[in-house]
Amino acid sequence: MASIDSMNELLVDELRDIYDAEKRLTKAIPKLSKKATNDDLRDALDQHLQETEGQVARLEEAFGHLGEKVRGKPCAGMRGIIEEGNEHVGEDYGDDDLRDAVIIGSAQRVEHYEIAAYGTAIAHARLLEQDEVVRLLEESLEEEKAADRKLTELAESVVNLEAADAEDEGDEGELALVGASVSRGRQSSSARPRATASARGKGSPASAGRTGGRSRSR
Ligand SMILES: [Fe+2]
Repeated sequence: MASIDSMNELLVDELRDIYDAEKRLTKAIPKLSKKATNDDLRDALDQHLQETEGQVARLEEAFGHLGEKVRGKPCAGMRGIIEEGNEHVGEDYGDDDLRDAVIIGSAQRVEHYEIAAYGTAIAHARLLEQDEVVRLLEESLEEEKAADRKLTELAESVVNLEAADAEDEGDEGELALVGASVSRGRQSSSARPRATASARGKGSPASAGRTGGRSRSR
């Protein structure tokens, strides 16, 4: 492997990593979407697939600005996150809502990884005064953050409560996979903690557990 001797080379290397990650996602997101049951979740994934294709195009543009060939470099991190997501989503679930809750968790792991990667690359592009590259990357970063917020919203308002209801119906065995938001379903609904406004604003999946907002009755 060639050595990296300048901030410019480091930025190009980072962009190659992100480029590979985004290309992998254009194949991985449709698989997640196909497995999702909740309509809103499927719509969110399909919308983010389109955005991801735009993000690939933006990275190609960024390589052009830097006078570099468009080329990816295998992103082991994203490969691992996708692999783990497929593994979890492929388990047997007693209820489709439980699988949807797992799909959200997998997708949010993807988004957080990308948010970190774009954030660092933007900082480096700024140091290099590559304003056009900064602008392109920031546009993608905003889409990743919005996708993450949307997934948190779905986790809080739709899918996890339905998964919690599945537990009430006696699907005890699968619960370890969906985490704390589901175990809250053991409490009576009046005792279910509301996410605080500040926790909700940070887009944390751990803030799930809000009451109300169900979009589907069963
Ligand atoms: Fe992305």
